[in-house]
This record gives sequence, C-alpha cells and structure tokens, in this order.
Amino acid sequence: MADLKTTYLGLELKNPIVVGACDLTADIEKIKQIEAAGAGALVIKSLFEEQIQLESYKMEQSLHENDNLHAEMTSIFPELEHAGPAEHLMWVKKAKEAVSIPVIASLNAVSTDVWLDYAKQLADTGVDGLELNFYAVPSLDNQSAAHIEDAQIAILQAIKSSVSIPVSVKLSPFYTNPAHVITRFDQAGADGVVLFNQLFQSDIDIHKEKQTFAMSLSGEKDHRLPLRFVGLLHGNMTGTLCASTGILNGTGIIQMLLAGAGSVQVVSALYRDKIKAIETMLNDLEQWMDAKGYASLHDFVGKLSRKNLKDPWAYQRSQYVRALLRENPMG
Ligand SMILES: Cc1cc2nc3c(=O)[nH]c(=O)nc-3n(C[C@H](O)[C@H](O)[C@H](O)COP(=O)(O)O)c2cc1C
Repeated sequence: MADLKTTYLGLELKNPIVVGACDLTADIEKIKQIEAAGAGALVIKSLFEEQIQLESYKMEQSLHENDNLHAEMTSIFPELEHAGPAEHLMWVKKAKEAVSIPVIASLNAVSTDVWLDYAKQLADTGVDGLELNFYAVPSLDNQSAAHIEDAQIAILQAIKSSVSIPVSVKLSPFYTNPAHVITRFDQAGADGVVLFNQLFQSDIDIHKEKQTFAMSLSGEKDHRLPLRFVGLLHGNMTGTLCASTGILNGTGIIQMLLAGAGSVQVVSALYRDKIKAIETMLNDLEQWMDAKGYASLHDFVGKLSRKNLKDPWAYQRSQYVRALLRENPMG
C-alpha cells in the first residue's frame, strides 16, 4: 500500500490532506468526524480581531443603551468589559484536546499589537502550528503595495520571534508579483505558505438594489491559479508549499502534488460532498499511486514543477501565447 506520509511546517502528517479553516472546524463533533475520515491535519476557524472589536462594541452599546433614561445605569455595571479572545482560546484548547492529528490555529488581525498579542495567546493553547491569514482588501489609495507587503513581512517576523510553534502564512493572490512576495515571506522565516486564500467578493442585488456579500464554494477550475504558483515555486523555497482553493477531489490533490505542493487544504469539497469526501480523496490518491507504481509521495511530488520539467517557460506567459496561437485554441 502506498505511503502517504508528508511533512507540513515541520510536522509529520499521515497524509497530505489538511482541512482548511472554515465553520466545520469550529465544531467539536465535526472535528472528530474530520479525524475519523482520515485527514492529516486541520486548521481551526480564524480568530478575527474585527469580530472581537464588533462584539465588544455591541456589548458597550447594550450596556449603555439606557444611560439617558436612568443615570444610575452607568454605574450598575462598572466592571463589565468584553472578555476579548478568551472564548475563542478556550475553544481552540478544546479542539486540540479532542483529536490527535495536528491542529493549527488561524489568526486574522488588523493592528500590529493585536497580531502579536493574539498570536502569543493562540500559541499558548498548545496548538501545533499557527496560520496567519493575511486576508485584506486594501481599499485606501494612500497605501502603496510596498508599504502593505513590508507591513505583513514585519508582522510575520515579529510573531516568529515571539512564538516557538511553526508559523505559516495564508495569502491572497492579489499582489503585483505574488511569486516575489511569497519568496519574501519564505526568506523572512515562514515555515510554510498556503496558496491561496479565497477572497469572498462583493455583489449587488438588482431587485433590492442592495450591495451584498457573496460567499460561494470553489468551482472546478479554481485550482488553476494556485497550481500555477505551486508549479513555479516548487524547489525554490525553504518552507513548505501547501496548495489551497479549488481542490475538490483526488484528481485535484494529485495535480497539486505533481506541481510541487507538499500538502493541500480542502474546504469546499467537504461542504459539497460532506466530510466523508476525505476518505474518497485518500482512496483515489492511493489507487492512482498504486497504478503508477509510486511507493511514497517523494516519488512524484514536484515531478511537473517548472524546475523538474526543465522547461523555462512552464507555468509562464509564453505557454499562454503558445496556447492562443494554436490553430484551434479551444480544442
Ligand atoms: C464557510 C467558510 C468559512 C471560512 N472561514 C475561514 C476562516 O475562518 N479563515 C480562513 O483563513 N479561511 C476561511 N475560509 C476559506 C477557506 O479556508 C479556503 O481558503 C477557501 O474556502 C478556499 O478553499 P476551497 O476551494 O477548498 O474551499 C472559509 C471558507 C468557507 C466556505
């Protein structure tokens, strides 16, 4: 039987399937099912600084909403304040205790102080690793790309020097030169990079004439963007490459491994096909490896990366030009 073992962030995983941060990993029963279905590791739903800010703001509001009616209300709850991330931290500890596969916490903060403070508190829960979810949609036109990138690198470096667990970064693809930024994160000490985060986009409901926020599951072609950057970067990184977005079945996993990922994150597949999809994906991977005569992942991870294809144009623009210049590009 094929050996599916791999390493991620220096952690030994029994196979390359990591369940990505989502609502499924915010529920103890589901976490146990994820382990039972055979996942190699899981990432707990992110702790969001803005969620704590919002809760704290709502609590302040409700404590003070009657102030103008009863002056004495202001002094009734003088000591009450929001517990900050305490509830999330307690939940992370429980999740870690519930399963024996590696458990990775995830953090998305705004201010540097909070990144650092929450990162230390998450590390103290006993989790095996920490994923920094650099999900941000820069909307201020007074911040240059260089400024944003430098600030994110500085946050990684500050966190790396204050926690002893491995730290990965989960990035969006929306940098001017993603390969350059990813390499900078790698050189700045990231133990791994997750390519990419799915940025949920704004939409407009024309009937209600309302701006909405669309959350949708990944489709079958969404794996192509991460595949390209995994293929380009394999062999040039110190940390490990973890592919994410659009990996919906065994084929998707095999493609990412051939391109050079050491592991993959899956989320949409589990919403579409339920948690048992992990079993099917593992079976498909094993059967494919047996059919190809591969005994372990080492035999083929990165086989189709740019480095190993020895094609200087692989995964690059000229492939696109070549495709368009074909007589029948569609087919
Ligand atoms: C319901 C839901 C909740 C999510 N919550 C988080 C989260 O808390 N933190 C995070 O980094 N990503 C979160 N994600 C994004 C996923 O981790 C993943 O990056 C994205 O869904 C793309 O992977 P997929 O194509 O396998 O779904 C969430 C996704 C979904 C569908």
